[in-house]
Amino acid sequence: MPAVTMDQLVSLCKRRGFIFPGSDIYGGLQGTYDFGPLGVELKNNLKAAWWRANVYERDDMEGLDAAILMNRLTWKYSGHEETFTDPLVDCRSCKARWRADHIQGVCPNCGSKDLTEPRPFNMMFKTQVGPVADDTSFAYLRPETAQGIFVNFANVLATTSRKLPFGIAQIGKAFRNEINPRNFIFRVREFEQMEIEFFVMPGTEDAWHQRWLDDRMAWWRSVGLSSDNLQVYTVPKADLAHYSKATYDLMYRFPIGFEELEGIASRSDYDLGSHSKDQANLGISAKVMENADSTARLTYFDPETKRHLVPFVIEPSAGVDRGVLALLTEAYDEEQIKPVSAERAQAVRDALAAFVKSVGRNEKLDPAQRDAILERAEAIGQDVAAHMAQIPALLDLPGASSIELSKKLRGQADPALDESYRTVLHLKPALAPIKVAVFPLKRNAPEIVATAREIRKTLQADGNMRTVYDDTGAIGKLYRRQDEIGTPFCITVDFDTLGQGKDPSLTGTVTVRDRDTMQQERVLMRELPEYFRDRLR
Ligand code: GAP
Repeated sequence: MPAVTMDQLVSLCKRRGFIFPGSDIYGGLQGTYDFGPLGVELKNNLKAAWWRANVYERDDMEGLDAAILMNRLTWKYSGHEETFTDPLVDCRSCKARWRADHIQGVCPNCGSKDLTEPRPFNMMFKTQVGPVADDTSFAYLRPETAQGIFVNFANVLATTSRKLPFGIAQIGKAFRNEINPRNFIFRVREFEQMEIEFFVMPGTEDAWHQRWLDDRMAWWRSVGLSSDNLQVYTVPKADLAHYSKATYDLMYRFPIGFEELEGIASRSDYDLGSHSKDQANLGISAKVMENADSTARLTYFDPETKRHLVPFVIEPSAGVDRGVLALLTEAYDEEQIKPVSAERAQAVRDALAAFVKSVGRNEKLDPAQRDAILERAEAIGQDVAAHMAQIPALLDLPGASSIELSKKLRGQADPALDESYRTVLHLKPALAPIKVAVFPLKRNAPEIVATAREIRKTLQADGNMRTVYDDTGAIGKLYRRQDEIGTPFCITVDFDTLGQGKDPSLTGTVTVRDRDTMQQERVLMRELPEYFRDRLR
């Protein structure tokens, strides 16, 4: 079963240390999130997979890491100062501000239709550069990484002697002062992009556009997104960004529906033409602003025709945060492993009913929070046994923990969840934050503990992967914990491993348990590195 709601993902991410609201202890900062111990691993693995596929495994790509702060002129000539805007409206009744194209003429806060006319709101953040604060000493935090690539085009060309077609890839932070950041890490004010600017001969751009669309689709599938959850949307001409001749949006079925995961734009010669000097002599086809400031001619010398030309650009631009969200959405599953006993189900049902009553009666609860809690509780209540795994997410909804009876509900559900359900992330092993967890069957058996710790260390060193040792619970509970964070394999060291069990043929072996099948097998300790080599790709 795929993720049912965003709340379930938010709850898991917070509970298990993937993603936390930014500046949480000070009440947060809207549109910012912090990636915790597991989130940073997942994100790094996604970025590494992208870099490997797009830089190392291709013959036509170079990498770059440009500065976030750039000369303000970059954003003048890129067109962002003038056009990187969203339509802003104010609600005259409650004074809330909204992005006009997100609200269909009705204020989501108070329901009023008394809104101002939309006006353009520039989404670039400004910051002061240097000690003097005046109208000229500011820079923008980049709203896309792309411009760092364009302004380095001549540098890369000169230092690598590349021939067209070739591309430059970059991963880095981007910042947008979104009017209404929302939907967890889907729309935030600080995020990361994985961008490629691929430079091609004019006239070949349509074929390359299609090739990149196919390549990028195949790559998202290779990291685990299913074809059923991916769609291509051809952006209508009227909605194209100011630089684009044509754009395909690669859409993923997030819990909020199909939304953009990556944009693949055909940017013509707009960018290199905009940032180039001597524009009049370059035969630029795009409509660009006259540039009196650039010191470089951003052209390519074609050895065949012996002339300088401005390359066209295809730009596959993916969001890292949206990528992480898509991976989590795709991987999330709740599975019933064995039936819940009738008594336990009844106890949870009773606790849920009491909780719902208490929520309904609570006058201190914010009405919107109360409605959200009741709506979710009602959905669970339709079949408590089938939806029991959603109770932690229900209790993580804003306001829920302020209800005294939430503790009782959690207490009743917990044992049933431990025995009968598991939440599991079916992440591709290569992307999983932790690859292998090692447990001792008994934590007070020094030889077993030492062997388990040694295995963890050896695998860590051998496979250059994140492994963990854990002895903080019974084995069943430890398996559940690792399932929930997507660890593909768990190893248990027991008395048989040490030759102290009933079956001497098991000496030197450990139990390896597979996350997805939950099957266990005995594997020789010395063969573990080999065993995992293929299975963790
Ligand atoms: N250089 C082209 C460019 O920036 P874009 O469609 O505006 O194009 C590319 O952004 C990708 O960046 C999007 O497909 C999305 O994945 C991600 N992205 C854009 N704005 C975002 C935001 N506010 N929060 C999270 N990700 C965002």
